[in-house]
Amino acid sequence: MVKKIAILTSGGDAPGMNACTRACIRAGLAEGKDMYVIYDGFRGLVEGDIKQVNKDFTQDIINRGGTIIRSARLPEFKEPAVLEKAAQQLNDFEIDALIGIGGDGTFRGLGDLSKHGIKVVGIPATIDNDVGSTDETIGFSTALNTICDCVDKLKDTSGSHQRCSLIEVMGRHCGDLAMFAALAEGAEGVICVEHPLHEDVLFRKLRKMKAQNKSHAIIIVSENLLDIKELAKKIEEKTGFDTRTEVLGRLQRGGSPVAHDRILAARLADKAVTLLVKGEVAHGKIVGVKNNQIVDFEIQEALAMKHEHTHGLRDLIDKLQ
Ligand code: F6P
Repeated sequence: MVKKIAILTSGGDAPGMNACTRACIRAGLAEGKDMYVIYDGFRGLVEGDIKQVNKDFTQDIINRGGTIIRSARLPEFKEPAVLEKAAQQLNDFEIDALIGIGGDGTFRGLGDLSKHGIKVVGIPATIDNDVGSTDETIGFSTALNTICDCVDKLKDTSGSHQRCSLIEVMGRHCGDLAMFAALAEGAEGVICVEHPLHEDVLFRKLRKMKAQNKSHAIIIVSENLLDIKELAKKIEEKTGFDTRTEVLGRLQRGGSPVAHDRILAARLADKAVTLLVKGEVAHGKIVGVKNNQIVDFEIQEALAMKHEHTHGLRDLIDKLQ
């Protein structure tokens, strides 16, 4: 039977991670379990930076951005000696189960750890929304709202100067932030893996807009795809649009989580704890939401699932432009 449960956050931080940590701790305490936090993700686990917590620890964190137990990226976590040390630390603290809040990288780490006899559950939290086993990740909604706030402001100045604004958003290799932001902002263009750039089409459209005196244009671009400064130069040459670039960067990761992310965090955390309490985790599971139902999968099954959330959005974006 699981008696002691530890929690860590790992990978890029996401708004709502604190709400999720809070809900895990409270759900565990409500079941009479001893609850622990691990600082600095897998790095803190290897170093034994582990602390038992009570309800006081969770006061006033539901609305806080970032993660108060901090996060880290630890590529060497797959090395056998490092994994062995991590498992040993949990054994020394007599911790039976670990909840990891993060994305696919975190889940791979949990999967490796489960092979050392630790029961693990992963909860999806990343602004990228790039996890195949869930329709939405904690933090995505907040990041999307942050992008919309920024684009609304950029529209003001872009319109005043009759410019084209190229706005780069995050997402690593996933276009969800770009696609959803383009739809929510009625952007004139979106460039991401799921909606690649066709220069001729874009330039033709911008030339037409210029000819019709449409005052300005917003183009949302996913990171890691192209050099937006180069594209801006080309747009100026080919269309005559005065063009500026903006990289929103890590602004998208900060801020108080929106209500949707806090609620998602609570639902997923409760499921993770319930699976452990009911003895439904043999080795490792990932929780998620599919069609608004909270679901769970074996880790390897979850990691093999493909992310296909923006199918259908592409046509809608094009239709409404
Ligand atoms: O995974 C979240 C994310 O913000 C990605 O969108 C981005 O590519 C990456 O993290 C940046 O990571 P870091 O802050 O470690 O450079």
